[in-house]
Amino acid sequence: MRVTVVGSGYVGLTTGVALAYLGHEVSCIDKNEAVVEALRKGKPPLHEPGLDSLFSEVRHRMRFASELTAETAGADVVLVCVGTPPQRNGDADLRYVEEAARALAETLPEAADTVIVNKSTVPVGSARRVEAIVREGLARRGVRPQVSVASNPEFLREGSALYDTFYPDRIVVGSEDPWAVERLRRLYLPILEQSFTPPQGLPRPDGQGLPVFITTTPTSAELCKYAANTFLAMKISFANEIAGIAERVGADITEVMRAVGLDRRIGPRYLGAGAGWGGSCFGKDVRALLALAEQYGYEMPLAQGTLRVNERQRRVVVDKLQAALKVLRGSTVGLWGLTFKPNTDDLRDAPALDVARRLVEMGARVRAYDPVGMSRAQREHPDLALEYAPSPVAAADDADAVVLMTEWDEFLHVDWQAVAKAMRGRVVIDGRNALDRSALERLGFQYWGIGR
Ligand SMILES: NC(=O)c1ccc[n+]([C@@H]2O[C@H](COP(=O)([O-])OP(=O)(O)OC[C@H]3O[C@@H](n4cnc5c(N)ncnc54)[C@H](O)[C@@H]3O)[C@@H](O)[C@H]2O)c1
Repeated sequence: MRVTVVGSGYVGLTTGVALAYLGHEVSCIDKNEAVVEALRKGKPPLHEPGLDSLFSEVRHRMRFASELTAETAGADVVLVCVGTPPQRNGDADLRYVEEAARALAETLPEAADTVIVNKSTVPVGSARRVEAIVREGLARRGVRPQVSVASNPEFLREGSALYDTFYPDRIVVGSEDPWAVERLRRLYLPILEQSFTPPQGLPRPDGQGLPVFITTTPTSAELCKYAANTFLAMKISFANEIAGIAERVGADITEVMRAVGLDRRIGPRYLGAGAGWGGSCFGKDVRALLALAEQYGYEMPLAQGTLRVNERQRRVVVDKLQAALKVLRGSTVGLWGLTFKPNTDDLRDAPALDVARRLVEMGARVRAYDPVGMSRAQREHPDLALEYAPSPVAAADDADAVVLMTEWDEFLHVDWQAVAKAMRGRVVIDGRNALDRSALERLGFQYWGIGR
């Protein structure tokens, strides 16, 4: 099939590369010339495990441009994967989605037979909105191609985006047009039937069942994405809320949540207590759901609580440092990890940046290390008065405390003897409950976890 992907970020590029691997003819459009330039040079402008090598395998079959043409707009399927950042009131900003819709309306040729797909996370009514923009534009031009707008929310996780694209739990398509649904079913057929040969380095997981193809109304498809993300964020916030009480009564949250999560009705994932969730999606999507509810005069206390617990959780790390060091002004803190989670270079809403900012405000000297996020941090947060170190041990040099904020593998296998030698103090704050407490205590460190 001829597929055009509008927006070549974490979602668009991953999806485009995966679809090209599955045999589709893919054009990636991004209005950011630097992104297009990087793609043309064969270098994906973002970090995602496995992406560089799969991209180099399929890129000769892909095309890249900064603008739509009649040919790319008139593909069999156009996937809109542009950003939908939060507005001040929490509502999703649809300006990029609308921009893409207008560009499609201006370029779709008369002979097109195209399904336009909202893959971006968008509030209810957005498929309708895109459809209205496209129809108005086409009417103005006096052309009448066959077009349908469907909603196809994306559930991939950064850090395992390709894996999630090839091996999803479900594919949701919201549409009123049976022919559009059928076309999207054919687009995803190799994934639905798991009939493709797995790419190198992305083996099919054992016992992988077939993904469920769910067809819904556009509104249900739009709402399910917000509901899913709010639930996942709520699970983590729930674990963090219990962590606070675990600390007070002397329980260990990792033991508690292991026992809780083994209940099949609950499940073990997304129950890790720590410095809280971040990233480009959870906070934005929970807020967008709350903004939607407000338009209906409807209260959502669970969603509100999910946010509140997470905001409080970011302070817990600084509170612990304060409790351990007493005075933060003049102290040196080694900060391990900047990205909002491991295996990505994404810093959007990263808890580590919040913690870093607060520590600097309180007069601490912060020396940070992250395996991939440092150049992006320097570029995107030039105001942040951090020092950047070339290794975890260098970040710990002369530090009173080390704080683990992102559980990159590199931190889990660090040479603790070398860290002990480098540090001035002995305090380790494990903001992800990822380190081996007894091993650290044996080496003389003062270990502080979250909820233990
Ligand atoms: N990142 C995730 O983990 C994830 C997961 C599921 C869903 N989503 C949703 O997918 C959407 C995209 O997220 P992302 O993280 O990939 O965003 P991103 O910021 O990484 O990428 C968006 C890209 O779209 C481009 N763009 C913006 N307007 C454009 C236009 N009019 N024409 C062409 N290109 C345009 C930007 O230049 C940018 O490169 C968002 O709605 C997000 O909520 C993201």
